Amino acid sequence: MTTHTDRLHLGAAWYPEHWPEDRWPDDIRLMAETGFTVVRMGEFAWSALQPSRDTFDLDWLERAVELAARSGIRTVLGTPTAAPPAWLVEAHPDLLAVDDTGRRVQFGNRCHYCVTSPDLHVAAETIATELAERFGANANVIGWQIDNEYNRVCFCDRCAAQFHVDLAERYRTLDALNARWSTRYWSQTYSSWAQIPLPIGPHNPGLMLAFRSFVTESYRRFQRVQVDALRRHLPPHVWITHNFMHWYGGYDHYALSEDLDLASWDWYVETGHNDYLSSGAAHDLVRGFKRRNFWLMETQPGHVNWQPVNAMQRPGEVRAMAWEAIAHGADAVLYWQWRSAMGGQEQFHGALLDASGRPRPVLEQVRRLGRELAAASPILAGSTVPPSTVAMLNSYPSRWSLETQRQHEDFDYVKHLVHYYRPFARRNVAVDLISSSAALGGYQIVVAPALTVLADGEAERLRRFVEDGGHLVLTIRTGVKDVDNALLPARPPGPLAGCAGVEVEEYYALLDAVAVEGDGLGGQATIWAERLSVLDPSSVRVLARFGAGDEWLAGRPAITARPFGKGRVYYVAAYLDEGAQQVLTDLVLSTAGVTPVLAAPLDVEVRTRLSAAGEEILILTNHGPVARSVELPWRAHDHLAGSVVGETIDLGPYQTAVLSALGVEDALRPGRPEETASRI
Ligand code: GAL
Repeated sequence: MTTHTDRLHLGAAWYPEHWPEDRWPDDIRLMAETGFTVVRMGEFAWSALQPSRDTFDLDWLERAVELAARSGIRTVLGTPTAAPPAWLVEAHPDLLAVDDTGRRVQFGNRCHYCVTSPDLHVAAETIATELAERFGANANVIGWQIDNEYNRVCFCDRCAAQFHVDLAERYRTLDALNARWSTRYWSQTYSSWAQIPLPIGPHNPGLMLAFRSFVTESYRRFQRVQVDALRRHLPPHVWITHNFMHWYGGYDHYALSEDLDLASWDWYVETGHNDYLSSGAAHDLVRGFKRRNFWLMETQPGHVNWQPVNAMQRPGEVRAMAWEAIAHGADAVLYWQWRSAMGGQEQFHGALLDASGRPRPVLEQVRRLGRELAAASPILAGSTVPPSTVAMLNSYPSRWSLETQRQHEDFDYVKHLVHYYRPFARRNVAVDLISSSAALGGYQIVVAPALTVLADGEAERLRRFVEDGGHLVLTIRTGVKDVDNALLPARPPGPLAGCAGVEVEEYYALLDAVAVEGDGLGGQATIWAERLSVLDPSSVRVLARFGAGDEWLAGRPAITARPFGKGRVYYVAAYLDEGAQQVLTDLVLSTAGVTPVLAAPLDVEVRTRLSAAGEEILILTNHGPVARSVELPWRAHDHLAGSVVGETIDLGPYQTAVLSALGVEDALRPGRPEETASRI
């Protein structure tokens, strides 16, 4: 199925069930004036859609879909299962989840369900089927969202029983499980499956990792019930998604994405301000779930209500963020939400309209965005983000393994990964953030931050990548564990030591910073450092060493590089400061011969999309409050301004330009601007 849209979409979450129906036309009119092309509805409307077990009321939703369609606004329908209604919970009290203190969660705060509840599955299938029968063939419903931000982890007895079934399927015998989890430690040996607990707080590492896989499988089963129910009634071109929470780590997003057509996510900036060097990683992460364009299903219209200080975005930031999402592969931007509800738990969250039904100041920015999207839609619709030459690997098992045994409270898997991402972003080198189990063909550089758990075949794939000419960056905490979270019977980086030419003798959680000194590569290590021994001094080059100060580390290699096959392997034995990390990244880039699409000053982000016809489209966004100029290698059509730009483009604060070269072939040929100009 192609999930590409015929245009870039703009919209919001709209809850018509909150409002008298005679207000709807005003909402739709205001949406149309804003440039909306889509609304998302229904994802919490279970009690309005099914007031009791045997009563369904879908007519109001159909009227809302039709009303929106009359103004050219299409609908994404959410299945309402994130909010199981009171009558359902009353009939099946054990449908409520149990938290890790053993307490049943209360009804009314959404996601209160136990995801393995068979009653939930039946009820979810019923409501999804009702919706699909009514709307599956409705041409105005272009896509479906299942549930909303899966996040509840349940610790009830039923989950425990299902966990045991899953474990028995995976390990076959208790002997195998006991051996792989080292259960002789503290007398944990199990003689029946039923003895195995759900881990509350820190526990046996094997159990901890297996539990995360169980949570993943539980959500996958729940999702599949709904996907199957919908699919039976949906034409093939209508897609199904779930709105993920970018770096949320409760389950394996690659596994859940396998059963979806499209990945989407909800972007809220916790500080109220966007740091594009880091947030780009979140977009790339979600693009990597399906290796294709995604939807930004929710984003904040100004501020949220759940931070200690719910600060407001700057006006221009609202649009710059939307453009960042598009530049990284989003085909749609939807705000949460259209109008502040009069009641409910989120009264003070940002919205495009206030409780009076009139536009809040932020709506003007979204209107402007609507005009920009309309101007750019013809060139961007159907376009994709071309594969990069740089990949960064994300591994949930590695993350879970590290998170449950941090060794240093500041060692955070995601922060460490983003620390590796930022220097590439600063240089405007696009990164594909992909699963550590993905194929690596086509990449020149692969960065594998803290790939602690080496799943079957991963080390071999990385070794072959280097042999074939790839440049591989290995970091601290690599190649330590197997898939059962047991230590490998070798020094890190385990099976990768052979190609890295180094192994780790000891690791150090750092209280104090340690100097790192190298040729042009000076800086500091904080949080973590490793003491390396060089296995093959004739081929391993030491790029930097630890300086004086720490008796264990002084003079030992901090960064090494080694030619291997046709490629090169780096081992970075320190958590470097940001400056040193940039220098190292620049070195890796230049050695591998990878260059940015376009050199641009700090704050200006440049990303490429390829039109359906293969034409290169550059999206330049100034993420800062100061105007910037960018030199262009060719004259270009500026699709937002509707003009032609020459050698330099000036970008005001938070301004975006969408450019395509004039007459691609000629315009790309350097030194022939006159000829290019004559083709305008
Ligand atoms: C999201 C959620 C929305 C809304 C929003 C507020 O996580 O999907 O329904 O609650 O947060 O920021």
